[in-house]
Amino acid sequence: MSTISRRTFLKLGGATAAGTVATAVTPGVADAASKNAQPVGRATLPYPNQAVVHAKKLKVNEPVSFNYPDADSPCTLIKMGHPVPGGVGPDNDIVAYSTNCPHMGCPLAYDTKTRTFRCGCHYSVFDAEMTGQMVCGQATEDLPRVILEYDPKTDTVRAVAVEGLIYGRQANVL
Ligand code: FES
Repeated sequence: MSTISRRTFLKLGGATAAGTVATAVTPGVADAASKNAQPVGRATLPYPNQAVVHAKKLKVNEPVSFNYPDADSPCTLIKMGHPVPGGVGPDNDIVAYSTNCPHMGCPLAYDTKTRTFRCGCHYSVFDAEMTGQMVCGQATEDLPRVILEYDPKTDTVRAVAVEGLIYGRQANVL
């Protein structure tokens, strides 16, 4: 009669709890499988750390276009003129978003009067002052938000990541 390790016993218990019928699991096989398991950690490629603009050059409510995290992903950066959620810079008022509509990928236009991004395809509207929150329309998700960092020594605003999936992608960094 063979003995089973505590580790194997716990694994068998977990499989049973999950409703799996374990027909033949030996300690040797289970240990080999656990050695081949992928380490827990990052499952996606790293985002580029990209300088976008000098904060002092920005004018309030004047959008600045750039691409991030690659050339195929249009984004817009705006200095709102007062602190907003997620805002960076000396006044915590600089934000940026992907301008591919999360509904079906149409290009969004920034409306300076309402400070929203608007989609001409099916009229979705997203609030630039509220982290890209969807206001109305056909979209079911908020606007992907570009995560920014500000370096006060160089006055540089940098893009470092995207929160939310850019339309048409399985991963933001391809
Ligand atoms: S593509 Fe923008 S609302 Fe449909």
